[in-house]
Amino acid sequence: MITITAATGRYGRLVVGALLRRGVPANEIVAAVRNPENAADLAAKGVQVREADYDRPETLASAFAGAHKILLIPSADFGLRHPQMVRAVVEAIDAGVGLVAYASFVNTDASTIRLGEAHKQIEAFIRESGAPFVMLRNGPYIEVFAGDLGGMDYAINSGTLIGSAGAGRFSGASRDDLAEAAAMVLTSADDQTGKIYELGGTPWTKADLVAAISQLTGKPLLYQDMPIDAYTQMLVASGMPQFMAEIIADAGFSATRGDWYTESEDLPRLLGRPSTPLIDVVAATLKRNGLL
Ligand SMILES: NC(=O)c1ccc[n+]([C@@H]2O[C@H](COP(=O)([O-])OP(=O)(O)OC[C@H]3O[C@@H](n4cnc5c(N)ncnc54)[C@H](OP(=O)(O)O)[C@@H]3O)[C@@H](O)[C@H]2O)c1
Repeated sequence: MITITAATGRYGRLVVGALLRRGVPANEIVAAVRNPENAADLAAKGVQVREADYDRPETLASAFAGAHKILLIPSADFGLRHPQMVRAVVEAIDAGVGLVAYASFVNTDASTIRLGEAHKQIEAFIRESGAPFVMLRNGPYIEVFAGDLGGMDYAINSGTLIGSAGAGRFSGASRDDLAEAAAMVLTSADDQTGKIYELGGTPWTKADLVAAISQLTGKPLLYQDMPIDAYTQMLVASGMPQFMAEIIADAGFSATRGDWYTESEDLPRLLGRPSTPLIDVVAATLKRNGLL
């Protein structure tokens, strides 16, 4: 049995889909989700849907029962990620899970990005817990940078995408590719215990990103870089809370320190092909968000 937590999320759903495509019988997959009512589509495919809310630890033991392997996908609530994942790891160990895969963040050891701090702590906890683990250190989702968080309509209409990433390189990949790689690891006949995968796609810069958007929309779009403090202030002035503005500006600026870039070939090696090109993922994202 392979258990996927947060399986109603975008990445989690794609992992379940990739497992099914790889021939894992639906009834041997458990979608362990906070809101089972949001998983009717997965249940209709024959996937076992169980309630697993990281903030209600009493739901985790029955959700994880019988799992041979588990993929722990952290919630997007970065302030709560560490305690949530600690609870989940403890329950996975209690359930006797044979392999705990953690959906981590690229370059977790060396990264200075504030968003990655919780991932560092979670990885350390997993190692010290003695659980048999595999780390899936996901690079940045291209979709997030191509507008999944909103704001791309404004950038396209104004002709300027503002940020603090300079010429920093992003080893971004599509959620789909990262999910497929996770499914490869979870279904591998080779022992995955102790392995650490740095999963990055073909690198690109913010200049490459705006060039791709411009090419697709036929509208001129330039990348305008700002010093991190000025960018933070601009975000605050636009109504973003100070804490969030600092996180966003730091996330961009950390590209200038190489935090989002990896030379690792783990992703294409697992996929058996190059990662999906930037422009294809950008096109799909713009279409999904009604911008193309
Ligand atoms: N590599 C990257 O660039 C990148 C970018 C963004 C995020 N991430 C990380 O990757 C994760 C998956 O990304 P995504 O795009 O699939 O995010 P997503 O679509 O927002 O999915 C987040 C999932 O977390 C679940 N969740 C939230 N609180 C929970 C709780 N208390 N207990 C159990 N599940 C809970 C949500 O459940 P509901 O369906 O019930 O809401 C949802 O299924 C994110 O949560 C984040 O940690 C990575």
